[in-house]
Amino acid sequence: MKGLVCILLLETFVFAVQQKVDGGLSENEISHQHSSEDRRQNPPQTDSVRSETSTDSQQNCQLFFPDIHAALRELTATVTEQKANIRALKTQLKEQQTFILEELNKKNEDRQIAFSAALMQSGGGYIGPFTTDITLTYRNVFTNIGNAYNPITGIFTAPLKGAYMFRISLYGHGSQSTSSTVSITKNGERVVVAHGQQPGSVVNSSNAVVLLLEVGDVVYVSLWSGRWIFDDQNNHSTFSGYLLFPL
Ligand SMILES: *[C@@H]1O[C@H](CO)[C@@H](O)[C@H](O)[C@H]1NC(C)=O
Ligand SMILES: *[C@@H]1O[C@H](CO)[C@@H](O)[C@H](O)[C@H]1NC(C)=O
Repeated sequence: MKGLVCILLLETFVFAVQQKVDGGLSENEISHQHSSEDRRQNPPQTDSVRSETSTDSQQNCQLFFPDIHAALRELTATVTEQKANIRALKTQLKEQQTFILEELNKKNEDRQIAFSAALMQSGGGYIGPFTTDITLTYRNVFTNIGNAYNPITGIFTAPLKGAYMFRISLYGHGSQSTSSTVSITKNGERVVVAHGQQPGSVVNSSNAVVLLLEVGDVVYVSLWSGRWIFDDQNNHSTFSGYLLFPL
């Protein structure tokens, strides 16, 4: 029952505010309007009773809604605060996204490993034969993304653990007694060979292998002792490698 009175009072208040907003009336005018209406509807002798009831109701109302203005102010403050919080969160989120993207890009850059090179930078001819195995230096570099291949030493060094693909090819011509034999070599161990015997006019061979490498493992091409390899400006003899995927 008290609650109902409160709601009625509240409605009156909202109505008054609406009137004020709609009609541009001052608070005095509103209260004046109400009191004249009151007088018309209620005989003057009941006025004191009415006002007592009204004061009583207002007190009761204050139990339910201690101060509507204070409550609204508090609500507004809360909303403003929440808005600021959301803005701060958005900024934080954006910063985190940027950070993650940068890290991913860095990771992707680390994973970009690919090289390809031919034996001769200029001129042409045979390399070998020698009395021991030698490491071939492929000096005509086509690509060396990630710089894991060193064209001075001919050695590829794995910058991260992963599965790598390597490929070699060789070529020779003319009637020669010397064979062409090279190996893809990992940490001093021969892995696969490309070989050609050359009493015929042309020799060519190739091979490829996928290797699981640890960081720092080295891969290069060995020319076997007593064998040779030919190349010229046509880039017949090549060594290529790339990271398939990190592990
Ligand atoms: C590769 O070598 C084989 C065997 O000697 C020969 O038949 C073929 O023509 C050669 N290919 C090229 C592209 O020289
Ligand atoms: C061999 O490589 C060099 C340097 O990249 C290039 O100028 C030349 O055209 C290549 N030769 C052939 C036949 O592709």
